[in-house]
Amino acid sequence: MDFSEDTLNKSDISNFFAGKSVFLTGGSGFLGKAILEKLLRSCPDIRCIYVLMRPKRGTSVQDRLQKILSEPLFTETLRRRVEARSKVHVVEGDVLLPQLGVSSQDRATLIHEVNIIIHSAASVRFDEPLKEAVNMNMGGTLRVLELAKEVENLVSMVHISTAYANCTLSEAEERIYDLDHSAHGILQMCEWMDEKSLKEVSSSILGTYPNTYTCTKAYAEHLVRESQAEHNIPIVIVRPSIVLATWNEPFVGWLDNINGPSGLFMVAGLGLLRAAPVTLRETFPDLVPLDLVVNTVIVAAKHRADPGVGPLPILHATAGPQNRISWQKMRRINLRLARTYPLVQMLRYPRMDFAFNDLHHKYMMFFHHYLPAHLAHFAVSLAGKPSKIARRYQRMINTIDILMFFYTTDPIFRKQKAEALFKSLNETDQYLFPMLADRMDWEVYLKGYLFGIRYFLLKEDLTTLPAARKRLTVLKAADLASTPLTLCFLYLMISWLISCLSMASTVIPS
Ligand SMILES: NC(=O)c1ccc[n+]([C@@H]2O[C@H](COP(=O)([O-])OP(=O)(O)OC[C@H]3O[C@@H](n4cnc5c(N)ncnc54)[C@H](OP(=O)(O)O)[C@@H]3O)[C@@H](O)[C@H]2O)c1
Repeated sequence: MDFSEDTLNKSDISNFFAGKSVFLTGGSGFLGKAILEKLLRSCPDIRCIYVLMRPKRGTSVQDRLQKILSEPLFTETLRRRVEARSKVHVVEGDVLLPQLGVSSQDRATLIHEVNIIIHSAASVRFDEPLKEAVNMNMGGTLRVLELAKEVENLVSMVHISTAYANCTLSEAEERIYDLDHSAHGILQMCEWMDEKSLKEVSSSILGTYPNTYTCTKAYAEHLVRESQAEHNIPIVIVRPSIVLATWNEPFVGWLDNINGPSGLFMVAGLGLLRAAPVTLRETFPDLVPLDLVVNTVIVAAKHRADPGVGPLPILHATAGPQNRISWQKMRRINLRLARTYPLVQMLRYPRMDFAFNDLHHKYMMFFHHYLPAHLAHFAVSLAGKPSKIARRYQRMINTIDILMFFYTTDPIFRKQKAEALFKSLNETDQYLFPMLADRMDWEVYLKGYLFGIRYFLLKEDLTTLPAARKRLTVLKAADLASTPLTLCFLYLMISWLISCLSMASTVIPS
């Protein structure tokens, strides 16, 4: 992509950020890092980016920032724009603390200097206990809104929500829907109730929400709406769906974690994940590449500052109904790719089948997951080595269970407003900030994605391919040999069961 001065000069978005300061929360996260990188690359005249960060595992915020900026994601941008590094300022704080845990001096700086707020920090753990999820996703949002109220020259604030805040609907528009409870009521309840009582009322608070994450993100939107109305804060909500590795920018296939589908694709490529439930067969998840979400966030920030924009625009950063791909098709493409470009760390021959029904799924889970995991665990333990194999397998299965809701429901996230906004951009901005996945070829995209998993998560480059291909041949032979063994095992088990039943019928008098 051409990010030359000439091109950037023609960009309304780049010009909008010129001379402005941004306050970014969640800048050490998957989405936050990518937003930081794109701002530095595409908005060279930005004044300053304040990144809220907490110290972690004994590492100071300054060291964390340096570490993040030295990641491959930033290499090219910081090489081309030497001055960019000095524009990033870390602010020590914690979204869970009053006043965001920011020192009074730093808070004063933010109030005087900041023009744009991007709130990305959240707890994205689906199984977070309600109290923690409420405190982070709702309380945290409220604390950022409190700061926003005080900022002297705020022109826009982007609140990053999730399309799955409306996962209880079969179809969701870019608007806020009514919920059963009051967001402030839930916040107060979580403050004064003890753990035990809270557990008892949890299911009534969650209602039809499958987990605390989606529920608290939905209620956080209500807090945003109230604050906007009361204090006239210029806010826009961006709702991504399930965010995957980058499509193109800053390069193909970038990712830094195994959350969501990335983890599943990785374990499938390693040959560990082999069975998928029947419900996945016909579903079309809404998946969106990270770079399109980043662009939507940046475009949204400018859009909210435009004159004549409504009080609370909401934009879906989703694939939308136009370009979704079924799990079935994704399975076919991924398996082909996993066998064409195998991983040298692969443990079993990559194979993945959808169950025909629930019983078949249980059968596959037992023979493809539990049994091999426990056999491997036993073999490693016999050799006198500590083994975590069975535990890791169990963790993988638990993770899949938690994710399954997202993957087996396929709500449609309409995105007329995001599309209209994109069409309203000038030609240069459409080129520099693509937001729509409509023209994405999934096959090409998934190839880049798997290469990203290979390179960024498993640290394997393509020089390992010859060794990996040899390994694939061996594992394929082992896989073929294991089928008759599995059948023998099944035969022995059934014979044993039948003999037990017939013994029981002779012992118990009729
Ligand atoms: N990833 C997706 O598929 C997806 C989909 C839809 C919406 N979203 C939304 O996008 C946003 C970013 O998600 P993500 O995928 O980037 O998540 P992530 O990688 O888990 O990042 C979360 C960020 O929040 C920060 N954070 C957590 N607790 C904090 C605290 N107490 N104080 C300060 N910072 C804290 C984390 O900082 P530390 O590094 O210190 O932990 C990290 O920077 C979230 O609002 C999420 O709901 C994500």
